[in-house]
Amino acid sequence: MAQNWSPASWRAKPISQVPDYPDADALRATEQRLAGFPPLVFAGEARRLKKALAGVAEGNGFLLQGGDCAESFAEHNADQIRDFFRVFLQMAVVLTFGAQQPVVKVGRIAGQFAKPRSSPNETQNGVSLPSYRGDIVNGIEFTEEARIPAPERQAMAYRQSAATLNLLRAFAMGGYANLENVHQWMLGFVKDSPQAERYRKLAVRITETMDFMRAIGISSETNPNLRETDFFTSHEALLLGYEEALTRVDSTSGDWYATSGHMIWIGDRTRQPDHAHVEYFRGIKNPIGLKCGPSMTADGLLELIDILNPANEPGRLTLICRFGHDKVAEHLPRLIRAVEREGRKVVWSCDPMHGNTVTLNSYKTRPFERILSEVESFFQIHRAEGTHPGGIHIEMTGKDVTECTGGARAVSADNLSDRYHTHCDPRLNADQALELAFLLAERMKSGRDEKKMAVNA
Ligand code: PEP
Ligand code: CO
Repeated sequence: MAQNWSPASWRAKPISQVPDYPDADALRATEQRLAGFPPLVFAGEARRLKKALAGVAEGNGFLLQGGDCAESFAEHNADQIRDFFRVFLQMAVVLTFGAQQPVVKVGRIAGQFAKPRSSPNETQNGVSLPSYRGDIVNGIEFTEEARIPAPERQAMAYRQSAATLNLLRAFAMGGYANLENVHQWMLGFVKDSPQAERYRKLAVRITETMDFMRAIGISSETNPNLRETDFFTSHEALLLGYEEALTRVDSTSGDWYATSGHMIWIGDRTRQPDHAHVEYFRGIKNPIGLKCGPSMTADGLLELIDILNPANEPGRLTLICRFGHDKVAEHLPRLIRAVEREGRKVVWSCDPMHGNTVTLNSYKTRPFERILSEVESFFQIHRAEGTHPGGIHIEMTGKDVTECTGGARAVSADNLSDRYHTHCDPRLNADQALELAFLLAERMKSGRDEKKMAVNA
């Protein structure tokens, strides 16, 4: 067990991005109440995810992590969850086929509520108020009252997470995730896509594979693997009082686990090695993520790896790289080389969203071609370094929003106002998300073909 650590030891460290709760007693009372609530996930599930990620770290598997930038209380309904899950599963099938490896499915969902902000205040028309920090902290409306951090919101976020997780578990295990369904949805997408010709080849190969399996007697009736799926949850564990309240000892191993989600990550703004977030994360046994932006140095990364994964356990640590399409070539190789030199086992994942945000017509947006370009560079760099490009981390929704520009059904700067619904950063819409999966699968396939040719040469 980590030395001198407790679920509360982060409280003695410097901390950034904390909300200014006006009523400390009310905050403590809410945290105490949360500490008595049931865990949202079990340690055994987190261990299963860690094992799957260990496979990815060893080069066998691909992590698909995605969902809202910020979940909201207002958009809590079955359609929202179902539409997200549906697109996410289709992406997973396409990627499984492209990679010919297992795809580890992790949603940014059922707990993704707290947001780090670049400024503690927001100014509109000369009025300055505390920034919105996610529905778990305060309200998005630009009024003095809404922006006051309210502890009760933590209990609401907990309950929403529990309800979301309940439906996701039902979808994953109750037949909705049946591969044959997912395949049919995917065919529908291809048929209607302006890029139908391009995607048809891959879709036809998946159809043939399914027909072949059915012909030899492998179907969802006979095989639970085709009927059910493993789906995990994740979020940025930013609000440490909430996380502490849901940190529990696992009775089988005696270890501490965050039970607010299967995987949690440290944001790019809160990864100082001697600060509170790193302190909290070092003591829990879940698989964890660490965001790496342009300011991450090679030595800084190795120092963090020493603290967060001293036993060099594969699957424990996923490095979520978010440099920007024009910066990835400058920053990623040096981090890969340092990690390789020191023999550290990590999963390399690419977040092509957070380094590619621009403002157009006063909307925060992300051009689809820049997102694609960062992912492509990520793959090329890993291929050149001889390392495994292990995953992607994206902000997406199952709805037809207009938040990121571009894509086959091009969203233009002028369309942004049509359906711009995000509570924080711009997300890929359903078509853009699936398109990204198809383009990635093509790239993975050509990578495999090149490898095969090199072996046969
Ligand atoms: C996020 O993932 O929504 C986020 C805030 O990312 P980062 O910490 O990389 O900026
Ligand atoms: Co975001």
